[in-house]
Order: sequence, then C-alpha cells, then structure tokens
Amino acid sequence: MRVSIPFFCRTVSVLFVMVLATAAAPARASSGKAFYNQICSLCHDDGGDLGAPVLGDRQAWAPRLAKGRQPLYRAAILGMPGSPRIMPGKNDYEGVYSDRQVKAAVDYMIRQSR
Ligand code: HEC
Repeated sequence: MRVSIPFFCRTVSVLFVMVLATAAAPARASSGKAFYNQICSLCHDDGGDLGAPVLGDRQAWAPRLAKGRQPLYRAAILGMPGSPRIMPGKNDYEGVYSDRQVKAAVDYMIRQSR
C-alpha cells in the first residue's frame, strides 16, 4: 500500500497535537482555577450585588451554558459591552492576559457550575 506524504504528515501532526493537548491538560485545569481565583472571583464568588452569576450556582449558569462554550469565551475575552451590568473583558484589567488564560478560567467556572 502506498501512503501519500501529505496524508502521513497530517496524521503525524494530529497525533502530535493530541499528545500535546493531553500533556497540557492538567496544567491548564489548575491555571484556570488560579486565574479565576486571582481575577474572576472578585465578582463571581459573590455576584449578588453586581449581578454576576456565582460560581457553582447551577440555576444562574444553566441558561448561559445552554448557549454553548463559544459565547461564554467571547464574553470573558471581550467583556459584555451591551450589558447594564459590568462584566469586564481581558483588556479592561491592568495586567496583560492571553485568550488561553481567560478561556481556562471559563472552563473552570463551567466545570464548577453545571
Ligand atoms: C467586575 C465584576 C466581574 C469580574 C471581575 C468578572 N466578571 Fe464575569 N460577569 C460579571 C457580570 C456582572 C456578569 C453578568 C453580565 C450579564 O449577564 O449581563 C458576568 C458574566 C460572565 C459570564 C457569562 C457570560 C454570558 O454570556 O452569559 C462569564 C462566562 C464570565 N462572566 C466569565 C468571567 C471570567 C472568566 C472572569 C475573569 C477573567 C470574569 N468573568 C470576571 C462580572 C464580572
């Protein structure tokens, strides 16, 4: 059987990405939690006054989770400018954070709240 080179390369790179993803998974989980605690917990641990959905409050999160993950990532990265309540985007913070850090924090919040 002849295996074409592009097919071979694609297969190898897919495997490579899978290995990387597996290796990175535990680190990402813990950094999502750390990032949450450092920044997001300010409002999401006790969102009562600010109207933020509280971590672990399934009722508050259910309609948000129903939208799927992407809109939640988007809200956390860009903020929610249309909302009367303040949900900052990553550029609203003093520090410089990557989309990946913010997404990991969202993943952590989702895990705790469904
Ligand atoms: C200044 C307070 C505040 C901080 C800090 C904050 N949030 Fe929020 N967040 C809110 C509020 C308020 C809402 C609800 C906004 C609404 O529904 O109108 C919200 C909503 C959300 C939602 C739901 C979005 C949706 O589409 O329903 C996600 C996800 C979220 N925040 C993630 C984060 C993450 C991740 C961080 C940390 C990087 C963070 N938030 C930091 C106040 C905050």
